Amino acid sequence: MEVARSFARARNRYEGTVGLLPTLGFFHEGHLALMDLLREECETLVVSLFVNPTQFNDEKDFAAYPRDEDRDAALAVEHSVDILFAPPVEEVYREVSQTTVEVTGVTDEMEGRHRPGHFVGVATVVAKLFAGLQPDIAMFGRKDAQQLAVLRAMVNDLRFPIEILEAPVVREPDGLALSSRNVRMDRREREDALAISRGLFQAAEQVDAGERRADRLESTVERSVKRLDIDYVKLASQATMKPITSLDQPAVLAVAATVGNVRLIDNVAFDFESERPVPDRGILLDEPSRLTTHLADDGAT
Ligand code: PAF
Repeated sequence: MEVARSFARARNRYEGTVGLLPTLGFFHEGHLALMDLLREECETLVVSLFVNPTQFNDEKDFAAYPRDEDRDAALAVEHSVDILFAPPVEEVYREVSQTTVEVTGVTDEMEGRHRPGHFVGVATVVAKLFAGLQPDIAMFGRKDAQQLAVLRAMVNDLRFPIEILEAPVVREPDGLALSSRNVRMDRREREDALAISRGLFQAAEQVDAGERRADRLESTVERSVKRLDIDYVKLASQATMKPITSLDQPAVLAVAATVGNVRLIDNVAFDFESERPVPDRGILLDEPSRLTTHLADDGAT
């Protein structure tokens, strides 16, 4: 595996179809599952590792974001990554940077409302990665459902000749969605955080039993997460990311809530098969994740 620091260096190593997995690093089993899925789809597998400063609307969150490039590089080797693209900030943002990418509409609600500037940071950095690395395929996880809609809109509007693949949410055996931020929760907080996936799964069961009203599904989740600091619980269209009142189209039931100092997002997507909504609860790991156990386990907090 090659660790490339510049776009040109990364492109120099390409053979055949190029697949890109953009990441903020500090890999967990969710990233590793995505690497394995994308490995099947391309000849050259590129994983980018860049803690993008412009998408963190909270400086403290940026500072606290876990980082360990050596650990990530070792995991990337184990998962047959060809190129780990880990640029310094100057390769991505020149001293004078005059261009940003703003996707409108799909960014109005949920994360867009609660994290001002976040999606401009995401769309701008992903546009830079697409322009600089020129992959044929790029993969994003369904956990960031609104990000996926934003990036699909960007690829469509800017005519990037890149195929976007979606990967399922990867969960702990008890349901908690994997996130690099999970390491910042202590045991009690982690226990409290389980209310999110529990509420989403209960709502998914209601849908399986025939419930279609958004307010009923949202109330189920709200009841479950009532002890957390909730930003939103919303049933939204997958295409527009706008709230809908009835589950009559592909949708996501999405949650953002803070546990301790850690803001978590999660969702269950509803795809349609033969005119019926089918919940995508993601995939559950067979064993608890080794990579997102909280830092207190190693005496680090
Ligand atoms: O989802 C993420 O990890 C980030 O938002 C992304 C897509 C790598 C852009 O920095």
